[in-house]
Amino acid sequence: METVILDWLNLVVRWTHVIAGIAWIGSSFFFMWLDAHLEEPAPGKDGVEGELWMVHSGGFYEVDKFQVVPSAIPRTLHWFKWEAGFTGISGVILLAIVYYLGAEAFLIDTEVADLTRLQAVGIGVGTLIVGWLAYDGLYASGFGQQNPRIADAISIVVICLIAVGLSQVFTGRAAYVHVGGLIGIVMVVNVFARIIPAQRNLIAARTAGDEPDPSLGKRAKQRSIHNNYLTLPVVFIMLSSHYPMTFGHPQGWVLLIAISVAGALVRHWFNLRNASTPALWPIPAAVVIFLITAAWASLPTIQAERAAASGEAVNFIEVRTIIDKRCIVCHAERPTYEGFEVAPKGIKFDLAADIRKNATAIKKTTIDTDTMPLGNETKMTPEERAVLGAWIRAGANVE
Ligand code: HEC
Repeated sequence: METVILDWLNLVVRWTHVIAGIAWIGSSFFFMWLDAHLEEPAPGKDGVEGELWMVHSGGFYEVDKFQVVPSAIPRTLHWFKWEAGFTGISGVILLAIVYYLGAEAFLIDTEVADLTRLQAVGIGVGTLIVGWLAYDGLYASGFGQQNPRIADAISIVVICLIAVGLSQVFTGRAAYVHVGGLIGIVMVVNVFARIIPAQRNLIAARTAGDEPDPSLGKRAKQRSIHNNYLTLPVVFIMLSSHYPMTFGHPQGWVLLIAISVAGALVRHWFNLRNASTPALWPIPAAVVIFLITAAWASLPTIQAERAAASGEAVNFIEVRTIIDKRCIVCHAERPTYEGFEVAPKGIKFDLAADIRKNATAIKKTTIDTDTMPLGNETKMTPEERAVLGAWIRAGANVE
């Protein structure tokens, strides 16, 4: 009963999270596009820095961008913060539902580190909180203010170390999602704690007839640039749980970092274009990094396949025995593993035909990577993985 409710809650929260995320990133891309396409305002528009016309769904829109703050603050002013707010709140709830309530399955891999649920959740939550505090402290400090490039370098090194560190204590997937979660939290809190307050301050100063403090605006801009470069990496990390070849790789953190860098480079290409200083190099650089990473991660698998291609044929009975021992508790019409009411992702191994049908998925999760059995709950051995691999390579015959 409890699990059924949790599954539905998971669906609703994930749905909200994705929709809020689309709205957030969509509006952020839209405003960057808007800024990049402003034109000289028509004569007579005082205080206006640029204007632009758009047509969408049969309506025509005129936008004026003001230099700093308009002299009269409009009665209704839209802030664009709840997209970020809902993405953050739903993200934290989702993290708790999947990884903290389901810690034994998704967070802890006793072969990586033998943690109790409390220890694992403590490390997860601690990383998110301490990570944000360190990031914010660094950029708010005098040192960070005066040496933004050094602060950037420190941040990148620290996030890499966090990726490496978490992969020594969590399942690959949980390590990925905590790096993504930390980046997401940095982005959301940047909006609420740094960007919006700076904007409020600008308005308050203008309404009181004072000159706004330019340093606040500058700092807000810096946070907004961070958020900009983090959008593509964070979306990759959130999608990565569908791709066991990333988080399931023995050095999964290398792929995490390399593909995130490729994403940030693509963002950089957009930024250069928007700033009217277009340059093509970030795209080939991103493609090269992506291809090298993919080749590096896949070559051993391909070589192993070739080396073993001439191996002995495996009898299906042997495969059936292994699956019954290691997988069937979860992947069955009626799972017996506590907390599973239905077969996860609809993948069942009751019938020989079910096993054959899922051979490619078994290869991805159990042979090319160790992402299944989940958290290796059922203690599958490397020899058993090799047997399944040989059977699949020989054509996955069930007779
Ligand atoms: C402790 C329970 C458990 C055991 C044991 C287990 N699995 Fe899974 N399996 C899961 C869960 C949960 C998921 C869904 C993961 C997710 O939500 O992405 C899953 C997903 C899968 C998928 C789909 C992956 C995808 O991303 O689409 C495959 C294939 C799979 N398991 C194969 C196996 C094989 C083969 C074994 C035995 C060697 C096995 N599993 C053992 C719980 C288990």
